[in-house]
Amino acid sequence: MHHFHYIDGDLSCEQVPVARIAEAVGTPFYLYSRATLEHHFRVFDQAFASLPHVTAFAVKACSNLAVLALLGRLGAGADIVSGGELFRARKAGIPAGRIVFSGVGKTTAEIAQALKEGIYAFQVESHPELLLINRVAGELGTTARVALRVNPDVDPKTHPYIATGLKESKFGFPVAGVEKVFAEADALPHIRVAGVHQHIGSQITQITPFVEAAERAAELIGTLRARGIAIEYLNIGGGIGIPYDEQVPPTPAELAHAVLPILKGLDVTVLTEPGRGIAGNAGIFVTRVLRLKDTGDKTFVVVDGAMNDLMRPSLYNAFHAVRPVRQGDGPDIVADVVGPICESGDFLAKGRPMQRPDSGDLLALMSAGAYGFSMSSTYNSRPRVAEVLVDGDTFQVIRARETYEDLIRGEHIP
Ligand code: LLP
Repeated sequence: MHHFHYIDGDLSCEQVPVARIAEAVGTPFYLYSRATLEHHFRVFDQAFASLPHVTAFAVKACSNLAVLALLGRLGAGADIVSGGELFRARKAGIPAGRIVFSGVGKTTAEIAQALKEGIYAFQVESHPELLLINRVAGELGTTARVALRVNPDVDPKTHPYIATGLKESKFGFPVAGVEKVFAEADALPHIRVAGVHQHIGSQITQITPFVEAAERAAELIGTLRARGIAIEYLNIGGGIGIPYDEQVPPTPAELAHAVLPILKGLDVTVLTEPGRGIAGNAGIFVTRVLRLKDTGDKTFVVVDGAMNDLMRPSLYNAFHAVRPVRQGDGPDIVADVVGPICESGDFLAKGRPMQRPDSGDLLALMSAGAYGFSMSSTYNSRPRVAEVLVDGDTFQVIRARETYEDLIRGEHIP
């Protein structure tokens, strides 16, 4: 469900025509719908309402302060993977007690920063990291709450770059023998074992991988408790897919319905870390057609947005639907939508049937709210684009388009 619809032939975000925003802020830009973000968060959060729970938004999916603040006000926590994400989450007003810190490469400085903030828990990914957290906590005269991230070796049946719960992946501890690491953690002087963490992958469109992973976690919690290790929380991760194309991923309610019976008897606080499921369909990327280029073999629609702005098509061959911002009656063509960057991999869509656009027309790349702006760069010295948030019949720029001066900030000629 989202709030991007045609009203009298004009693609609109809630009640605001996208073309009006393009006139005001220029192109390209990311556009988010407040109502959609709120709806997605509430649906997800309510699905787990029968148990004590925290819905910790995966900040990496969409890290704009306004988006984080909006979700924080609705009760969201944050799943972070860097000191920068911790900084953002706190600036946005998300309480430290609702923040969990994942990632295989936490630095000493980041660990100290998170301890000083008093986050809910570190989600530890390796033995050396566990010892480092213990040491830093000792130096700061405090105790670190930790979960161990367990790799349940479940196939999430998704793109290999975003599968994280298979045994060949770099994430977490292999489930076999992990109880020994829990026991060791429990005996460390500056560590307090608090939970079990899993995250098996992203853009998961089936329910069984979640169920298998939850069953393994439940079994593990039983084993740990039998050994006298107290477990307060279970984090089942994020990963729920969204319909980019024809996929029909499970709804949050279906996910909860399948896993809650497994989690109910465990007497734990349930954490989830959805990113894409909240933000993906709440945002679009809007770009303007510069010109059409026909090579005889192929038609290229050259637009002012590029792979540096929306990297998912180049990196994962990901599909984003392309829609005209103004519906017309031009002839149907099949075209590649490409940007100005000097790489053949610079495309936003390939071999796509569409209405033949004219120079100056606006196109929308749908479902771009997650891993869109947050993965953008300034490659080819292209300033990062603006981000805009619509609320009902109003809109606000929530991140100004970068300038050339922003591009060279911090650089200096010796
Ligand atoms: N928790 C952890 C520990 C994660 O690593 C991730 C995502 C999430 C939660 C959120 O997953 P989600 O609910 O959004 O699926 N750039 C890729 C996606 C990478 C996901 C990395 N980890 C893409 O554009 O598809």
